[in-house]
This record gives sequence, C-alpha cells and structure tokens, in this order.
Amino acid sequence: MRVLLVDDEPLQRLLLMRALAPLGVEVGEARNGREALDLLQEKPFHLVLTDLHMPVMDGLELTQALKAQDPLLPVILLTADREREVRLKGLQVGADDFLNRPVDLSELRLRVKGHLERRRLQEELEELEKTLLVLVRAVEAKDAYTAGHGERVARYALFGAEELSASPEELKDLRMGALLHDIGKVGIPDHILRGDHPLTEAERAYIRRHPVLGDEILRPLKAHPRLRPYVRWHHERPDGSGYPDGLREVPLLVQVLSAADIYDALTSGRAYRAPLKGEEALEVLEKEAREGRLSQEAVWALRSGLVRKRALGPR
Ligand SMILES: [Fe+2]
Ligand SMILES: [Fe+2]
Repeated sequence: MRVLLVDDEPLQRLLLMRALAPLGVEVGEARNGREALDLLQEKPFHLVLTDLHMPVMDGLELTQALKAQDPLLPVILLTADREREVRLKGLQVGADDFLNRPVDLSELRLRVKGHLERRRLQEELEELEKTLLVLVRAVEAKDAYTAGHGERVARYALFGAEELSASPEELKDLRMGALLHDIGKVGIPDHILRGDHPLTEAERAYIRRHPVLGDEILRPLKAHPRLRPYVRWHHERPDGSGYPDGLREVPLLVQVLSAADIYDALTSGRAYRAPLKGEEALEVLEKEAREGRLSQEAVWALRSGLVRKRALGPR
C-alpha cells in the first residue's frame, strides 16, 4: 500500500518516513498540496498524511480537494494542539483523523495501520462489486437491446425510491439489487437471450428461471439476505400472477424495481418492436397497476421520481 506524506519541511518528512518504515508501506513525498495532487494524478495512494501550514496549497485546501475526488481516501491532518478552530475546519472539509505535533510515532503507526486496513477492506469490497458488475455486463452484452439495462434500472428505481423516503441503507441495497437483478441470465443460453425474435413459450419458460438462478449465484455473498428480494422477486406481481414464488405480498421497494425494470424494457425497444416514449411507457405501467399486476404506489413513485429528475422521455 502507498502513503503520501505532505509537508514543506524536509526534516519532518524524513522523520515521518522513518516512523512509517516498519509498516512496510511505500511512501511518496510532496512539499505542498499542489504537488500532492499532481503526484496523485500519476499514481494512486491509499492514505494521505498532511501538514497544515504549507505554501502554495495548505492542508485544509488539500483535504477538501482530495475528498471531492475520492471521499473514501483516508486523510490524516497533522496539527498542533492549540489549533481547535483548525481542527473543526478540518472536520468540516472531511479529514478522517488528526495527529498532534510533536507527533507520537507509535500513535502515528497505529493510526496509519488502522486506516490502511479499513481502506484495504473497502477496496476488496469494491473489487467484488466490480467483478459482479462485469458479469452483469457480459450477460447484457449478449443482446444489444439490454446493454446498460441494469444501470438504467438502478437509476430509475432510485428516483422512485427517493419519492418514498427510503433510508440511505435501503437505497444502497436497492441500487446493488437493481444492478444485479438479472444476473441469473448468465445461466441462460445465448440464442434465447439474443432478443432478435419474440420468444417462444419454451424459451419463455427457460428465461423465467433467471430470478432463482440469480438468487443461487449471490447466495455466498454476505449481502445476500439484503439483495435477495430484488433478485428473486423482481418478477413477482401483486395479484400473485408473477414468478418464481407467486407472492402476493411483495416489498414496496422491490415493486419499485419491477416498475423501473418494465419501464426500461418498454423505452428500450427490441429488434421486433420500437421503443416507447417515457410518457407512453408510464401509461402502460399505470394500466398494469390498475389491473393489479403492478403496485399503484410503486408506479406513482416511479412517475414522480422521473418527473422530478426530468428523466422522462426516450433515454
Ligand atoms: Fe428479470
Ligand atoms: Fe430486468
């Protein structure tokens, strides 16, 4: 892992560098915020340890710039004890931690180690997420009409969920669930997914397995219990006519996902049918809702979310 040291005093940098040596991390040096940002352009660092008072660009400005680029990059500010005001400002711009000068070197090592460990876990999670999304894209790419489907559905579903005042945690799960909702299609033969012809009854039956396949694929994940409803139940319908479980009581946010899913399919078109305009697609959804095959509340939320975000219309 790489730590970036930012301090205008060469002696201070040397001292800190020596202190970090036992951690076995690669250390980069910069004399001010500007230089630090330039270095970060060249290669990524996993933690930034910065002095406060420096010429050209000080520690607070640097922290602000860093957090704007990557809110998860840990930034530790080195400050003198008395600077309470500065600490408050540091927190405001998003500093993760402070170390008092003169620096207690053992404390420095422990804090840096802790932040790096959290960063590593974070990156592992991001990697896992990326791997799953690559898998989803591979499935979507089999059919020109579904390319980008997961991402669009996630966007629409979040617009709708915000109308229902979903919590940040719920929004996070919904986003991931929406991105992955069709991951089970990875187990469906290509010629069925290609989407160049209306499906036969047998092909339809095959495709109907994808929610259960997706549920199985994601089972090893720790997040599985939270993602499961979205993946397994996005084709359930409130009148019980859906699949795979024929549920009548489907969680509301899952129904928002279903509405967003159908909205995207209608506005994307197929080789054998033209895409609908956003308003036309919503009218189809509203009709479905009146007839009990979609949740009225979910369709209402989707409509007002799309209107609020001015996202209505052909994508
Ligand atoms: Fe699906
Ligand atoms: Fe879908």
